[in-house]
Amino acid sequence: MSSSLRQRRTIIRAALPAAVLMLVSGAVAVQSGGPAVAAETTLRAAAAKAGMFFGVAASPNRLYPSVGQEFGQLTPENDMKPDRIATSSGGLQNTSGADTLVNHAQSNNMLVRGHTLVWHSQAGALQGASQATLNTFIGNAINRWGSRIAYWDVVNEALEDNNTGRRRNQWPHTMNRDANGDGDFFDAGDTDVIRDSFIRARQVVQAGGYTTKLCINDYDVEGLTVQGGGPNRKANALYDIVRNYRQYIDCVGFQAHFNDNPNSVITNDLQANIQRFADLGVEVHISELDIDDDLSNNDIGAGQAENYRKVVRACLNVAKCTGITVWGISDSESWRSSERGLLFTGSNGSYQKKAAYHAVLDELNKGRGTTTPTTPPVTTPPPTTPPVDPTTPPPTTPPVTTPPPTTPPVTPPAAGCSATVSLNSWNGGFVATVRVTAGTSPINGWTVRLTLPSGATVTNTWNANASGASGAVQFSNVAYNGAVGAGQSTEFGFQGTGAATGLTPVCAAS
Ligand code: G3I
Repeated sequence: MSSSLRQRRTIIRAALPAAVLMLVSGAVAVQSGGPAVAAETTLRAAAAKAGMFFGVAASPNRLYPSVGQEFGQLTPENDMKPDRIATSSGGLQNTSGADTLVNHAQSNNMLVRGHTLVWHSQAGALQGASQATLNTFIGNAINRWGSRIAYWDVVNEALEDNNTGRRRNQWPHTMNRDANGDGDFFDAGDTDVIRDSFIRARQVVQAGGYTTKLCINDYDVEGLTVQGGGPNRKANALYDIVRNYRQYIDCVGFQAHFNDNPNSVITNDLQANIQRFADLGVEVHISELDIDDDLSNNDIGAGQAENYRKVVRACLNVAKCTGITVWGISDSESWRSSERGLLFTGSNGSYQKKAAYHAVLDELNKGRGTTTPTTPPVTTPPPTTPPVDPTTPPPTTPPVTTPPPTTPPVTPPAAGCSATVSLNSWNGGFVATVRVTAGTSPINGWTVRLTLPSGATVTNTWNANASGASGAVQFSNVAYNGAVGAGQSTEFGFQGTGAATGLTPVCAAS
């Protein structure tokens, strides 16, 4: 018996002393007063039960029975890339490998992720093409498979390496023009290959009446911070793209090729980063997962199985994280075989499950569950905090440590809200994640006020409109996260320079 399964059974026994444990063809079944709850024995079934897909990247020569048994989603690892299927004028060629994969997926009830339409790499005959030609290719590729493709990676790897937060300076991004010189490509007069490719893809999907969802996909964007604690500028840049182009983008892929690159390790804020994208209303996918196995004493951290568990848990804890795809079946057949980053060993259809497989299955079987907050939720506002009159400008003085003597303690009104903050700090900077929780009634809007210590400055905010950058600052909901159900929560975040200790957020509902 694997140690993970043993551990799982121990946990179940401890939690349900009166329960009867049964083994049903390898599955753990728990019986108590109610109906039996059986643990699923394949990744796809366990994931489906949790309301997500668990998929794999594959090539036509790797379509062994275990693919359809274990995985509920298929990404062509190479067969839909422009260098395989695009002509120089944006037509299609050599689609037989892609067709084989799509047909296999269809006959095994698997979702397909199309990978990928616009990419600086592996562009083949499209290399150097104009936006018009890219648009032709986008139309031809989407129309060939229509709704048989559930998700298309419309734009892949648009952002530069080394955590600069900039777009790549390679074709096709060299077509970009910042018309008003304000440092971004988001303005109406700007030229942006990301925006224009998504607009084209959206038109084609709408005209065809397809159910296909349109994704942007990248790597080293997984954490809010990078190793050592600095901000993940690449993730922030992707976030800005999705926020600005939300009307065209349905989904975001975090590739998650975790290795020993400081920008590509599993940080504790993976879940918070998934959450902030999810809060924009897009689906989030872990789209190309592999994790090096740590045998070489590198710096990815603990054991591979535990790292897999962390990633799966982070996704499960965010409702809009709707799928995980591993980038291949077995270590020896992987693009990074020397790092042994996958869930199986073996080759040519004869595969053996690794500890990482059992950890993933076990974690999926636990289901979505609730988020483990980094700070305990606050049910009543701190007694030292005076009530905030929305008509009164926020105080400009530093935070008070004792309440004004005439101010009674605040009890949240029935329609009120509370806020808690968790900080991720490093020398010279911080990321604050603020959780807003509605009281006993639903709310339609919220404002959180807090006072930053001297020397701290807000540089970047997501999921909220910020007012003020230092001293007394306030954050109000944006259009999509003002409505919060009774007892429910939403999160926003901000990044800053300096130190932000002792923050005391005060929430006012509207
Ligand atoms: O099939 C040919 C073979 O006929 C030829 O003899 C051989 C000679 O080099 O090349 C074979 O093609 C290789 C192909 O993988 C299939 O093995 C290509 O050279 C090689 O460049 C290609 O590498 C792929 C790489 O993307 C570049 O497209 C990897 O398999 C694939 O895993 C990798 O996937 C990427 C994602 O698309 C984007 N995110 C990162 C991820 C990992 O790099």
